[in-house]
Amino acid sequence: MSHSTICLTIDSHQPESDRIARAADVIRAGGLVAFPTETVYGLGANALDAAAVARIFEAKGRPAKNPIIVHVADVAAARQLVTSWPDVANALAQKFWPGPLTLILPRKQLIPEIVTAGGPTVGIRVPSNAIALALLRAAGVPIAAPSANRSTYISPTTAEHVRRSLDGRIDMILDGGPTTGGLESTVLDLCEPTPRILRPGLISMLQIVSVLGSNVIQHARDIPSGEAIRSPGLMERHYAPRARVICVEDGGDEEVLKHVAAGARVGWLTLDGPFKSSNNVICINLPFEAAAYAARLYSALHELDDAGVDVIIADLPLELPEWSAVRDRLIRAATQE
Ligand code: TXA
Ligand code: MG
Repeated sequence: MSHSTICLTIDSHQPESDRIARAADVIRAGGLVAFPTETVYGLGANALDAAAVARIFEAKGRPAKNPIIVHVADVAAARQLVTSWPDVANALAQKFWPGPLTLILPRKQLIPEIVTAGGPTVGIRVPSNAIALALLRAAGVPIAAPSANRSTYISPTTAEHVRRSLDGRIDMILDGGPTTGGLESTVLDLCEPTPRILRPGLISMLQIVSVLGSNVIQHARDIPSGEAIRSPGLMERHYAPRARVICVEDGGDEEVLKHVAAGARVGWLTLDGPFKSSNNVICINLPFEAAAYAARLYSALHELDDAGVDVIIADLPLELPEWSAVRDRLIRAATQE
């Protein structure tokens, strides 16, 4: 696939309806549109059109075994895609939709197999970004959308990130400025007796427990060994820059010095600063507050990759519930293939 990609700037609070209409036309015609959500930019296609969804896999180089999240405008549209809508789904949707929570539910046959990677479930969410919602309403179809990056690379938080990774491979980019959340949605499996977080994200386990009033199994790491992993791509290298990433639990200064001494150009995601950059070390001082850190992390990784550093040292934040999504992404970025 190779053609020119149209890029339209669009207002993030009051999206211009003529631009939304153009993007909706592309979706309905089976094309690919990258658009901002409150988490990261998504690469959207009509979720009911198998050929359109196949183009997403092709553009991203995404393995066919990895299912795609379906975005809808409201609860009514979500219910049309599933064979059951349990009380827990209703309670969570009331509280967190529109917002960064993806619910895994039993899918209806009308969703093409390619969306769910052949599986019996579908991941669904209602995004809160005004552009995403306007696009969903104008298109009038559910929109399947993974993050708008080449597979395994860092997710995009700006239209420029999308352009650099997918220019010429997709039809349109809606540029609504940087995303506010910066990390992906929480993926919650509701198809088991106990709800299970398959991917930590912007909605924390504590927020989910506050609604469900019961225990939520936090993470696949807590699943007894031998049980199949239900979310492909969960344990693999993911969200990764080109540079090698090394995570350090108690401050990265020694690790930074070691790599500089060995002649490497180092990027340092530090929580201990503020430190100044030098010739061989680019310091990015990150905020010691989980939501602010999340909003900044991917753009920081993109900057360090653009600067061509050899290695990125990341100070890991404390192992506390509010940091679980950030720690998850840092550790997966550091996973070697
Ligand atoms: O914030 C987000 O979730 C962004 C925006 C664009 O909505 N989307 C996103 O999509 O991060 P993607 O494809 O990069 O990640 C979706 C994750 C993958 O780990 C996938 O395996 C999992 O959700 N997933 C999707 N459908 C699933 C299903 N039916 N069962 C289990 N896991 C599923
Ligand atoms: Mg992704």
